[in-house]
Amino acid sequence: MTYAAVRAHTNIALIKYWGKRDEEFFLPMNSSLSLTLEKLYTDTFVQFDEELTEDLFILNGKKQSEKETGKITRFLDLFRAQAGVSYRARVASINHVPTAAGLASSASAFAALAGAANIASGLNVDLRTLSTYARQGSGSATRSIYGGFVEWNKGTSSEDSFAIPIDEADWDIGMVIIAVNRSEKKVSSREGMKQTVETSPYYPAWVATAEDDLSVIKDAIKERNFEKMGEMAEHSAMKMHASMLAAKPPILYFEPASITAIQAVQKLREQGISCYVTMDAGPNVKVLCRLSQAGLIKEKLKDFFKEEQLLITGPGKGIRELTED
Ligand code: DP6
Repeated sequence: MTYAAVRAHTNIALIKYWGKRDEEFFLPMNSSLSLTLEKLYTDTFVQFDEELTEDLFILNGKKQSEKETGKITRFLDLFRAQAGVSYRARVASINHVPTAAGLASSASAFAALAGAANIASGLNVDLRTLSTYARQGSGSATRSIYGGFVEWNKGTSSEDSFAIPIDEADWDIGMVIIAVNRSEKKVSSREGMKQTVETSPYYPAWVATAEDDLSVIKDAIKERNFEKMGEMAEHSAMKMHASMLAAKPPILYFEPASITAIQAVQKLREQGISCYVTMDAGPNVKVLCRLSQAGLIKEKLKDFFKEEQLLITGPGKGIRELTED
């Protein structure tokens, strides 16, 4: 097989990954845990072809620059080296991100690319090992190999810093994504986490508490205790942003509408609707909720946001090969 097409869904961390201890191999300072999402995914086709003289990368129908293609080349080299393949590749990706969300995701991108390169190169490593490859494209991609709730164990080396599926999330879990701003983020997560590690006096506290936070949320998931899980997810997100705010210069991803969203969620809780916020390296707010209450929450959020800014999604599955039929 010299070609394959694979779908991978994006994921949102409930215990955040923030900071690397090794930038070359993308080894994280702390373990993290996420929920894979159904509605946001990437489809990627990879074909190794002896006729090609260089790698080609087409994203959403558009040929990408040398710089963008270079990132793909470096990533495919991991597979070429292990599989003994020297051919260049044709890579075509489509991001299925509903316009409302405006969330292009490196997690689904590198998980789909890893999945397709694994098959197309004939390497065919198992999913756990594949997650260590995806990690070297983007840390959060490690977790997108699997569906439902997924843990990324920080490990001790490149070989054992992999993802493991924790729970299928088949128990009334959902998210309402609030697209506050669709434009490209000013500080990438890669730069943002580096600056936080190097300059924030609060960063050691982030690292010191992350493993305990992870064990609390794993217990909550095991007990199917939604409130315990949501409280911890919200705490992890706010603590990550607090560590960034204390960096020099400070890193601020919040926009006025992000605060509006957070306060709207607090108000919903006062009304007895169980829901919690999480935020990543950008202004968009994700509301963790019961899928059965997501419609009601969306209606209430329409007091502050437009219909097209709000997207409901349930849990998504792990990577899968796309066949022609
Ligand atoms: C805030 O995975 O985008 O979303 O490893 O440098 O590619 P790189 O960073 P990336 O960082 C994700 C950070 C986060 C939290 C998370 O997804 O755990």
